[in-house]
Amino acid sequence: MTLKVAIIYNDPFTDEPNRAGEEEAIVGVLEEVFAVRDALKELKYDWEQVALHKPLEEARRIMSSIRADVIFNLFEGFDDAPQSEPLVARMMEDMRIRFTGNPSHVLELTLDKARTKEVIKQHGIHTPEYQVLTPQTLDNFCLRFPCIVKPCDEDASHGLLPENVVRDRKQLARQVQRISGEFRGYALVEEFIDGREFNASVIGNHELELIEISEITYMLPPDLPHILTFESKWFEGTPYYRGTGVQCPAQVSPELRQTIRDTVLASCRAVGISGYARVDMRQDTDGAIRVLEVNANPDLSPELGIALQSEKRGWSYATLIRNIIDLALERI
Ligand SMILES: Nc1ncnc2c1ncn2[C@@H]1O[C@H](COP(=O)(O)OP(=O)(O)OP(=O)(O)O)[C@@H](O)[C@H]1O
Ligand SMILES: [Mg+2]
Repeated sequence: MTLKVAIIYNDPFTDEPNRAGEEEAIVGVLEEVFAVRDALKELKYDWEQVALHKPLEEARRIMSSIRADVIFNLFEGFDDAPQSEPLVARMMEDMRIRFTGNPSHVLELTLDKARTKEVIKQHGIHTPEYQVLTPQTLDNFCLRFPCIVKPCDEDASHGLLPENVVRDRKQLARQVQRISGEFRGYALVEEFIDGREFNASVIGNHELELIEISEITYMLPPDLPHILTFESKWFEGTPYYRGTGVQCPAQVSPELRQTIRDTVLASCRAVGISGYARVDMRQDTDGAIRVLEVNANPDLSPELGIALQSEKRGWSYATLIRNIIDLALERI
């Protein structure tokens, strides 16, 4: 019998485009959905596309009507409600529907960057020194400048601008004020690691396997810090878009390759990754690889991150999608 797969994703037309660049992010969502759908066609699976929209109860109602062997989970949480991402996964677990990617508790943990850093630190993995601050607790600041100020629980580089890299207390206060105002009250402040930037994806349930390593390359005007900003991902023609590239596989020595590999696998095991994930890292001046974050629901768009890494490893896009589905079917 033909396998039936339902793709769930954010309804791009009801999730209000209320932030700068959100329209570009919407186009990104659709590209990803269409690519997965085309892969399902190529694999000769039955497929259906199910857009989820607010409120959460409506999403529950929509999902309870799905009749499929497995759900392909591309849902990234409603705009302004990141917690809806693990909550939707929890619903599928409660409904006993098999789905691709990580279980709800892993999505919930990795959404909180500070908690994730604490967990991986406890496992002896390096991550930049950090503090969670609010405008009221700024006096507790005790890190070394330069630092980067980020939202605690957002992704897709929401809210990241060159100004997020701060060099003194005045700049720090301004960015903590901005980020905590825009993103639910807290700001994650980290020491800024200005070395080479890598990311690598893994796949697997109990046995995790590294797919391939990429390096992010920067060729930016001297006044712009080397960071992946919202612009570098979505705004063609901007200095960040033009000045940011990716090299895959990364050109690294066998020793560095081994260090990156060990760090990535250890980080994924520490947070309980099952399915697939991508880890973002930077190399410190002392050579140490420091983990910036573990993405438990990384972008599957062709030619990016995990898809690009799979291709370099010799898997077609359809093979990657099939492997992800096989892992979901193997669970339970
Ligand atoms: N401590 C740091 N030191 C140096 N650069 C950093 C640091 N933290 C973040 N960056 C830069 O900012 C980018 C985005 O940060 P991060 O990956 O933590 O957030 P994100 O917005 O959730 O990203 P994604 O879209 O990958 O989910 C990184 O790719 C890196 O270029
Ligand atoms: Mg990242």
